[in-house]
Amino acid sequence: MSAYINPNLLLDTTGIEPGHVVWRSPSNLAIIKYWGKYGVQLPRNPSISFTLANSFTETILDYGPKQTDEDGIDLQMEFNGTEDVKIQQSTHAFLQKMLPFFPFLNQLSLKIRTANSFPHAAGIASSASGMSALSLCLCSLEDRFFGTLGDPKTFDRKASYISRLGSGSACRSIFPYMSLWGEYRPVEGSSNEYAIPMEDHIHEVFKGYHNAIMIVSSQEKSVSSRAGHALMEDNPYADARYRQANERMERLLQILKDGDTQAFCTIAEEEALTLHALMMASTPSYTLLHPNTLKMIECIREYRAQTGHPVCFSLDAGPNIHLLYPDSIKEEVQLLIDSELVPLCERGFWIKDWVGEGPEEL
Ligand code: DP6
Repeated sequence: MSAYINPNLLLDTTGIEPGHVVWRSPSNLAIIKYWGKYGVQLPRNPSISFTLANSFTETILDYGPKQTDEDGIDLQMEFNGTEDVKIQQSTHAFLQKMLPFFPFLNQLSLKIRTANSFPHAAGIASSASGMSALSLCLCSLEDRFFGTLGDPKTFDRKASYISRLGSGSACRSIFPYMSLWGEYRPVEGSSNEYAIPMEDHIHEVFKGYHNAIMIVSSQEKSVSSRAGHALMEDNPYADARYRQANERMERLLQILKDGDTQAFCTIAEEEALTLHALMMASTPSYTLLHPNTLKMIECIREYRAQTGHPVCFSLDAGPNIHLLYPDSIKEEVQLLIDSELVPLCERGFWIKDWVGEGPEEL
């Protein structure tokens, strides 16, 4: 949407007082997965996710009048308290791309300090929380200088749009409980360019869902999400997959509305395994699953069959298991986690997380 390109957002350089903005933004877990993209970060199919609570990035953006005459972004960056050249370079490149949307960034010296709530080496993707936290900071800055984003809906939509340009899935982290990204006709207002809040479309039970992240391996993944998306272009199953995602979206939206936690299990697991099946069916093929991922899957399915409890798993683009269950069975599921799943985690490490209320300005 070129409407967000705005050459008028320029400051009167004589009056810039130094200041800062701070945002905490969570990660999210897709139930219907985004896998395959085109153009500038546009999804091949609609996706829907839980917004998490305990896995988040906190970003402080300090700014002041620009200290150099050089054109372009002037940035210092700290990640978890230290300088990290790779993150500095990718953030610099992202901000440079953001200049048409926030031209005033060229008039400032910026310092970004960012940290994750989860250990860097946990094998959890931080792009959704990281890019959404940074995008929220940029929107706050725009609103502080120009008063253009005072309406919360306008603010969130731009924050989601900008997040998407940083990392597709990040656009879904902006909203509480659940978000939908990608044009899906039956949901009015849905768009390929930003996510929309789904709070009003879901049963209360899902707002209290738990999402325990069982760390099977903290190793950096062998194939990045970006490369994985690219492999979808020649995947012979791609068209069928995009159709299937739309069909599953229809089923899932009904399930979410009805609060049908059993039917939810079926569809969440089908989607998780479809994502990994697509990776295995790519050329070149690859798998990110580990033996202990499969052991956990077996264990969770057996537990569900025996107890009838609606506990299920999902997967991101990695080997770690996201265990999903309603609040009403948390005590029972804790026993399953402690006795059966923790022994299969790397050094027994897992993260307690749950569905959250979205980003927070601090
Ligand atoms: C498997 O959002 O990380 O987690 O847009 O290239 O940054 P880029 O990819 P990214 O892909 C996430 C894929 C996924 C599924 C999902 O979150 O929907």
